[in-house]
Amino acid sequence: MSRWAGASTATAKPHVPVPFAWDMQVPIANREAFVDWAVKNRGEDREFLTQRWNRMYAMSRNRDLTDDYNKRAFLLTPREDFCRPVNRARAYESAFLDIGFGVTISGPHAVGRMTQSLNVQHGEKVLEIGTGSGYQSAFLAHLTDKCYSIEIIKPLAERTRGVYDELIADGYSEFKAITTKQADGYYGWEEYAPFDKIVVTCGVDHIPPPLLKQLRPNGIIVIPIGPPGAQRVLKVVKRQAADGTITVARSDIFGKIVPFVPFTKLVDGQIKGAHNGDAKDMK
Ligand SMILES: C[S@@+](CC[C@H](N)C(=O)[O-])C[C@H]1O[C@@H](n2cnc3c(N)ncnc32)[C@H](O)[C@@H]1O
Repeated sequence: MSRWAGASTATAKPHVPVPFAWDMQVPIANREAFVDWAVKNRGEDREFLTQRWNRMYAMSRNRDLTDDYNKRAFLLTPREDFCRPVNRARAYESAFLDIGFGVTISGPHAVGRMTQSLNVQHGEKVLEIGTGSGYQSAFLAHLTDKCYSIEIIKPLAERTRGVYDELIADGYSEFKAITTKQADGYYGWEEYAPFDKIVVTCGVDHIPPPLLKQLRPNGIIVIPIGPPGAQRVLKVVKRQAADGTITVARSDIFGKIVPFVPFTKLVDGQIKGAHNGDAKDMK
């Protein structure tokens, strides 16, 4: 069964000829060189690869992707495989796209800037809240070998787990680095804490205290904060003084409102409302 079962436009995924390696030399500076390299080494479609490189170039001009490590990770991630078949041809547009269940895959510029703001180093532990399509964690899996991702919508979490498993079977061995679960991500993932970096891909009006607690000192959370539909994406750096006092330094990474889907809540196993206003209940 296809990972996009029932979708008539799904295309067969080519086998990846050369497994991912951390020291792969990816020619990122030149489009033709990159496309030729990726056709040979990744077995991917020339048209999608061309669009991917063009989008990387636009993101780099827009300062969403500025360092080579993150550009390389973007170029190695087949965004088209995380879009619904009906939207595959639009994978490299700058827009966010519908993925069903009332939620979206964020646009590439938003994912790029948020990911780069985390400054992920190889070997760091990264937690994502809001697996959605799986694209964000797939991008992260080219930056570190320890990615954890939580999705609240059960059928979406299961579908995306299936996408990763099919891609791994196709030869994208790097996605073995992604551990997933279905849960309410507000409470983080204690079992794997502390995390070096946390990225939240749904919007809320405060920093969830459990996430701040599960972040290492000097760690970074990137999170859309604000009222419904009008969040600002903050980079939050956690500082811990010698006496244990925690402070945070915040900066707005886009300098403008960027709306996100709500940070919803599980009550008795059902999604009911959102976590806005919950900080006061945890004091
Ligand atoms: C913008 S969408 C998906 C973005 C995703 N990172 C991607 O690359 O496709 C945000 C996701 O957050 C999920 N979400 C919302 N509240 C959540 C919660 N409390 N815990 C975990 N996931 C949540 C939504 O169901 C949705 O899939």
